[in-house]
Amino acid sequence: MDLTELRGKYIEAVAKAADESSLEEVRLAALGKKGEISLLMATLGKMSPEERKSQGAALNVLKTEIDAALRAKKQGLADAALNERLKSEWLDVTLTSRPRPMGTIHPVSQVMDELTAIFADMGFSVAEGPQVESDWYNFDALNIPPEHPARQEHDTFFMHRAEGDDRPPHVLRTHTSPVQIRAMTEKGAPIRVIAPGRVYRMDMDQTHTPMFHQVEGLCIDRDISMANLKWVLEEFCRAFFEVDKVELRFRASHFPFTEPSAEVDIRYSNVGGQLRIGEGDKWMEILGSGMVHPKVLQAAGVDPNEWQGFAFGVGIDRITMLKYGIPDLRSFFEGDLRWLRHYGFSALNMPDLPGGLSR
Ligand code: DAH
Repeated sequence: MDLTELRGKYIEAVAKAADESSLEEVRLAALGKKGEISLLMATLGKMSPEERKSQGAALNVLKTEIDAALRAKKQGLADAALNERLKSEWLDVTLTSRPRPMGTIHPVSQVMDELTAIFADMGFSVAEGPQVESDWYNFDALNIPPEHPARQEHDTFFMHRAEGDDRPPHVLRTHTSPVQIRAMTEKGAPIRVIAPGRVYRMDMDQTHTPMFHQVEGLCIDRDISMANLKWVLEEFCRAFFEVDKVELRFRASHFPFTEPSAEVDIRYSNVGGQLRIGEGDKWMEILGSGMVHPKVLQAAGVDPNEWQGFAFGVGIDRITMLKYGIPDLRSFFEGDLRWLRHYGFSALNMPDLPGGLSR
C-alpha cells in the first residue's frame, strides 16, 4: 500500500473542492465509515504486531493530515462565501459630497481686485479709511462746510451721540473721498493712491442701495494736470472693460473738492436687459473727477503752492454691472446662492494684467 500516493490524491482533491458539498464527498471518500483510509485502518487487525505498529502510526499521521486539510479548506470556503455575501449586500451609507464644495468670489470683490491690479500697474498703492467717519473728514476737509448744499445731497446716515454731547455726530461715510485727506495727512506729497471700499447713503430704488462701493483715486505731484487725469481714466477704462471699443464722454461738472471738475459717462446699450459696453445710444455716468481744490490740499497739510493733482471717484457697482452684464444692482446684495454661482468668480484666479483680468 502506497501511503504517499494516497496522501497526494486526497490533498489534491481537497484543494480542488470548489464548495462545501464536494468537500464533504472528499471527506466521505477518505475518512467516512466506508472511506479508503477507514477501510485501511480496519485491516490493521489482521497484521502482525510489527507491521501493525509501523502501518498504524503511518495511517494515523495520514488521517490527521487529511483531516486538518479538510478543516482548513472548510474554513476557507466559509470565509469566501461570507465575503461574497458581504460584497453583494454592501450598502453605501456615506453622504455624497456637495457638487460644488468651493464658494465663489462676489463680482464686486472681483472688480476691486481687477482695478487694484490696473492701478498698481500705474504706480498707485491702496489706501484705507474707516466706514464710520467724522463729519470733518467726510465733509469739512473736502471743502463742504456745514451750510453747504452738497451736505443735503448726500442723504447721510448719522451715528448716535450720547445725551448732552453736542459735538457733531459721526457719519457713515457717504463717499471714499475722506480717504484722500487721511492718505495725504499720513504720507504727504507726492502721493498716488486708490481707496476702494463701502459707502452709505439713505437711498433705495432700482439703481440705488443704502450701501454701495466706490474707488477713490488721488494723484498729487508738482506738475500733474487735467491731461494726466484724462489719460489715466481712459487707460483704466480700456484695461478694465477688456474690449477694444470703449467710448467715454467728459462733461464739465461741479464738486466742492475739485476745480475744475468733470463727470465721465460711458457708452452702452441695453437690449432685453443685456448690458453691452461700447455700443448703443445710452450713456451711464461712472465717475466724478477733477483737479484737487487748494483748500483740500491745505486741510491735509499739503502746500497748494508746491503741489497739485487730480482725484476721481468711481462707482464700483456700476462698472461691475456694465462689465459683467448684470442688469439689477439690488441683486448684488441679496446673497442669492444661485446668483452667486452664476456671476461669481473662481477663488483661485487672482486678476493680473499679463494673465488677463477676468479669466
Ligand atoms: N465723492 C464724489 C461722490 O461720491 C465722487 C467724486 C467726484 C470723487 C469727484 C472725486 C472727485 O475724487 O474728484 O459723489
